[in-house]
Amino acid sequence: MQNKSHQVRIAQLGAYPFERLKALFDGHTPNPELEPIDAGAGEPRLPLPSFVADTLNANLTGFSKYPSTVGSIELRTAIAAWLKQRYGLESIDPATQVLTANGTRESLFAIAHALVNPDAPDDRRPYVLMPNPMYQIYLGAAITAGAEPWFLSCSEATGFAPDLAAVPEHVWTDTALVYVCSPSNPTGWIADEDYFRKLLELADRFDFAIVSDECYSEIYWQQRPAGLLEVAENLGRTDFSRCLVMNSLSKRSALPGMRSGLIAGDAKLIRQFTKLRSYTGPATPLPLQHVAAAAWSDELHVEQHLDVYRASLKAFFDVYGGEIPSGSFFVWLPVADDEAFALAAYTQQSVTVLPGTYLGAADQNGINPGTGYIRAALVDGPESAAELARRLKAVVI
Ligand SMILES: Cc1ncc(COP(=O)(O)O)c(C=O)c1O
Repeated sequence: MQNKSHQVRIAQLGAYPFERLKALFDGHTPNPELEPIDAGAGEPRLPLPSFVADTLNANLTGFSKYPSTVGSIELRTAIAAWLKQRYGLESIDPATQVLTANGTRESLFAIAHALVNPDAPDDRRPYVLMPNPMYQIYLGAAITAGAEPWFLSCSEATGFAPDLAAVPEHVWTDTALVYVCSPSNPTGWIADEDYFRKLLELADRFDFAIVSDECYSEIYWQQRPAGLLEVAENLGRTDFSRCLVMNSLSKRSALPGMRSGLIAGDAKLIRQFTKLRSYTGPATPLPLQHVAAAAWSDELHVEQHLDVYRASLKAFFDVYGGEIPSGSFFVWLPVADDEAFALAAYTQQSVTVLPGTYLGAADQNGINPGTGYIRAALVDGPESAAELARRLKAVVI
């Protein structure tokens, strides 16, 4: 059977959640009597860490040089040192097992293009598995890479864990890549070591790669999240075979505008990915690589940020009631009708939140597990989080 053209795949992409939100709000105005609260985007809004300006100023001449795609060895060494201290890794080689990225978004997208066979016929396309609801980039990546997306439902019934048990054997057989996101956007679920172990067993049995999006790794309520590389190493997989971890400074260091991240794990996969990247060229400017090295080498600012996120989560749930999520700065709240709720929150309370429907997709059974939830980001500190909770409680639909 013929293989779908790239244009057809691009046309298959749905509108991005924020475009859908804009369309939902079109023609409506927020309540003018209330100061707006934007809890829609997961954009940290904390002060710049103190070392940013000094490090940048000291390295401005780097703007006159082309940076290499893989990143300077100094930055990769700083990243490897962070991975070692954060996850207790015995060893990770900065030269072969670490790459730099422009945030996680671009690398989460591009990796599917490196690992999926685009020539497979339409009736035997490789599967890319992903949580549902999900960070929408996984879905866009799978579609444009020519894969068949397969959705792992994250519902209350599974404790919001992506449901591996529901995947049929024929899907595992043709799986090229599984995305996992821990802590999870939007549900706040955290993968425990057992979950990663199970996934690694399946990866060996069915020969696929795991891409672990750990960009919220430093934002958690109590239990510090485990990482895929640490679980792999504990199992004796010192080569991190089949594993790629992606993380960034966007959430950990509240530097989303810097567009700086890491890719780490299996040297073979990294070589393959580097080849693709040497053509697409997502290199980080050298002065920013210096700032990034400083950010991966400092934990004080990360601990200060965590204090603010924990205080915000507590302030929110003290007012709203319910259970504090295990990780990330998102709250994932059940509501009767998520689109109607988001619109009412905007018009009645001047609050922007995302309908869960926009973060999920209709799965194999036609069910979108995001429907019936809204996502709010607690990114403006504890006072704003408490006010957000009061206003969300007052929404009437
Ligand atoms: C789950 C998840 N992964 C990745 C990203 C991308 O972040 P960045 O590219 O800034 O690292 C986001 C951003 O909101 C996210 O929520």
